Amino acid sequence: MNEERGHFGSKIGVILASAGSAVGLGNIWRFPTETGKNGGAAFILIYLFFVLILALPVMMSEFVIGRHSRTNTVEAYRKLAPRTPWVLVGLMGVLCGFLVLSFYSVVAGWTLDYTLLSLTGALSGATDYGASFDAFVTHPYRPVIFVLLFLLITHVIVAKGVESGIEKFSKLMMPLLLAIILLLVVLSVTMPNASEGLTFLLQPDFSKVTPKVVFSAMGQAFFSLSVGLGCLVTYSSYFKKDTPLASSALNVCVIDTLVAVLAGFIIFPTVFSVGMQPDAGPGLVFVTLPNVFNQAFSDVPWLGDIFSILFYLLLLLAALTSSISMHEISTAFIREKFNMSRSRAAWIVTGVCGVLGVCCSLSFGPWRDVQIFGMGFFDLFDFLTAKFFMPLGGIGICLFVGWKMKKQAVRDELTNGGTLRMPLLWVFLVLVRFVVPVFIGLVFVNELFGNVLF
Ligand code: PHE
Repeated sequence: MNEERGHFGSKIGVILASAGSAVGLGNIWRFPTETGKNGGAAFILIYLFFVLILALPVMMSEFVIGRHSRTNTVEAYRKLAPRTPWVLVGLMGVLCGFLVLSFYSVVAGWTLDYTLLSLTGALSGATDYGASFDAFVTHPYRPVIFVLLFLLITHVIVAKGVESGIEKFSKLMMPLLLAIILLLVVLSVTMPNASEGLTFLLQPDFSKVTPKVVFSAMGQAFFSLSVGLGCLVTYSSYFKKDTPLASSALNVCVIDTLVAVLAGFIIFPTVFSVGMQPDAGPGLVFVTLPNVFNQAFSDVPWLGDIFSILFYLLLLLAALTSSISMHEISTAFIREKFNMSRSRAAWIVTGVCGVLGVCCSLSFGPWRDVQIFGMGFFDLFDFLTAKFFMPLGGIGICLFVGWKMKKQAVRDELTNGGTLRMPLLWVFLVLVRFVVPVFIGLVFVNELFGNVLF
């Protein structure tokens, strides 16, 4: 079976597809949730610091490995370092990809349901959004149907291939997404009492910083930028020779951070505006917001409806441009490893994630009491991936580029064979060789033993 590997057609396609992977539920659902739980502005500052010194170098390293090897994330290590344990970094990434897509599809499934509810007008005018959200997520089969539906949509896009599936979809959706976000920000910050939410977002209170806050900020930086699991190794294996790696990575980080902060600007001013609490957890976006839309626009209900349709549609599109990238990690690996057609490989991934996704979904309802290490499937998968596998993968990826790959090969990739200037190459090398591994290690130690860092 010798299908062509495929590649991204244009430079802007590269940026939009990678930014599409990065921008997702992580920015619009997980970021506000974590910010709300971890005290606001101080958490955001630590997060921004981690994006710059940890996630950006890991992203550049993934780009270097992917484009240099031109193959999936497991084969990449086999090719560049034959018969060494480095391949474990790639295998951990594939495992992580399965786990992330499984729990991600649960929240994406909720989003799909809320998009349909808002389109049919069923969201407006309800009395108790908390109760209806609980009833929905604990229902024995309704959320499960939406998990599977979401996975099927992801499957269809991935099965279409790199250029006409992934790239085309991202190019179409990302500008639309940015437009919707900007519109929502304007609506949100002009609401009465929005200033309290802005203070929460902008005024840091460092007395709230605990090891847990630091650990969560690091997990959020990795999760939001899709780094540490080989997703961007896979994408960059489809980059062309003239794609500038460093500036593309920087662009993706800027876009992703902007969207996360803007999502904060949409959510917190509205939450405070109607006198609610920011630390509602995973339900923030599904309970607090419909309530907010409803109360804030009680005089002009149709405006509330439009606000909620736009919001959930935005969340759904963002989730899809990310889920296709998680799916592609394992699809590319299975397809190339077992010499299979793209479509068959994609079905295997969809099937496995379907089963795991259903387990995660049920952990909110009928399987609430099934606990591993004191967590249900959903929480366990979220914890294991964002806070554990991804930062650990980040260490492996940076050490590989910093110590194992030839310096000349790294330089060639970052300068496109000497045609681009890269005056800060030495900074990059210091970061990947020392700073990233040591820092991630310290954050782990800090979480385990408390207050080593802050
Ligand atoms: N970065 C994505 C988001 O913010 C999530 C993601 C994680 C995507 C890992 C791919 C890989 O939603």
